[in-house]
Amino acid sequence: MNMFDTQTEIASFTPYSIEQLPLSITLHDESLSIVWDDDHESEYHFLWLRDNCHCSECVSMLTREQVFEICDVPYTIKPSHAYITDDHRLVVEWNHEGHISKYHPGWLREHCYSKSTVEANQWKPRLWDKSSIATELPKSTFDEITQSDTQLLIWLRQLRDYGVALITKTNQAPNDLVEVANKISFIRKTNFGTIFNVKAKADANSSAYTDLRLPLHTDLPTRELQPGLQFLHCLINDASGGESILVDGFKIARYMQENHPEEFDTLRTVPMPFHNKDRQSDYRFRSTVIMTDSHGEIVEVRLANFLRGSFDVPACQTLALYRAYRCFIKLTREPRFQFFYRLKAGDLMVFDNRRVLHARNAFDLTSGSRHLQGCYVDRDELLSRIRVLERHEN
Ligand code: OGA
Ligand code: ZN
Ligand code: ZN
Repeated sequence: MNMFDTQTEIASFTPYSIEQLPLSITLHDESLSIVWDDDHESEYHFLWLRDNCHCSECVSMLTREQVFEICDVPYTIKPSHAYITDDHRLVVEWNHEGHISKYHPGWLREHCYSKSTVEANQWKPRLWDKSSIATELPKSTFDEITQSDTQLLIWLRQLRDYGVALITKTNQAPNDLVEVANKISFIRKTNFGTIFNVKAKADANSSAYTDLRLPLHTDLPTRELQPGLQFLHCLINDASGGESILVDGFKIARYMQENHPEEFDTLRTVPMPFHNKDRQSDYRFRSTVIMTDSHGEIVEVRLANFLRGSFDVPACQTLALYRAYRCFIKLTREPRFQFFYRLKAGDLMVFDNRRVLHARNAFDLTSGSRHLQGCYVDRDELLSRIRVLERHEN
């Protein structure tokens, strides 16, 4: 059987362009190094290379999923021969079962895991405050987003990087929200419905459904996974008051890390409970206010004063937690961090609910009415849509 007799060289939808060419390889005890034509050097371990063989025995061309299991070869597997072909592929002939692997240079370079490449590829949020977002707020019109995938991709990347983006000039119709959300993917249904109507209601089951001021918060911190994107579409905003305030939670967390490191560490390590109790549901989750990933990057904030449970940490941590929590809230109240915006009919505000805190001022229903519609789409749906749209980018 010809191992490379497949429809595509790599069973993947991602187009790997060849921007750098491998010039030479050097074999070491447990790995090989490639020097590329831009002088970058990549080291690939033998086990890693065997694990990532593209051949049709190792990867199903139907599902694009690996069928080979790395546990089925010796830990000490080595190349018996390795070379670069005239068409710039790395070929490894293994000392186990005569298996041969051939690697596409675009794929290999894209998957280089040298420290410098990993650092360069790390996504970085564009942090903002009052003055920067005033000039940088990403904006598109409803028609641009719904009619052009190129515009959509630009807007989605901005939404990913800033954690907030605005759509203007919707048709002011209830279905606009669903249309935009579905441009990304599935709406995440919750106990508040697929679409929730934010207006003052007699039988309110959330502070959002009153005319009261809502302090800065993330939605549904009571859930194991907080919804990623939050959409708020303004249908009517005639009442006086009701202005929106947004704060970049990552900016606040970073500021705390640099200026109040102890308080930052407390919010990153000591969890607090969040509760939401309704007639038919009782959601509770215990989590830290700030979350960091394995690189120490701030990846999530979680906070709603009106959904907090009573602190239940050991007595020796109670005051430290109050001190840290108060420090965070006080910073969010500083005008220099706040983006103040009055939504008008036809505006659709979208933000990363696991990053950006939102608030609204109280409003006066005797002066007019106010009606927003909202829904959620998870963060990984956004990232998935961006990647799929990027496949077709030239
Ligand atoms: C909400 C909310 C803000 C507003 O529904 O979660 O925060 O402007 N609404 O009414
Ligand atoms: Zn293989
Ligand atoms: Zn909210």
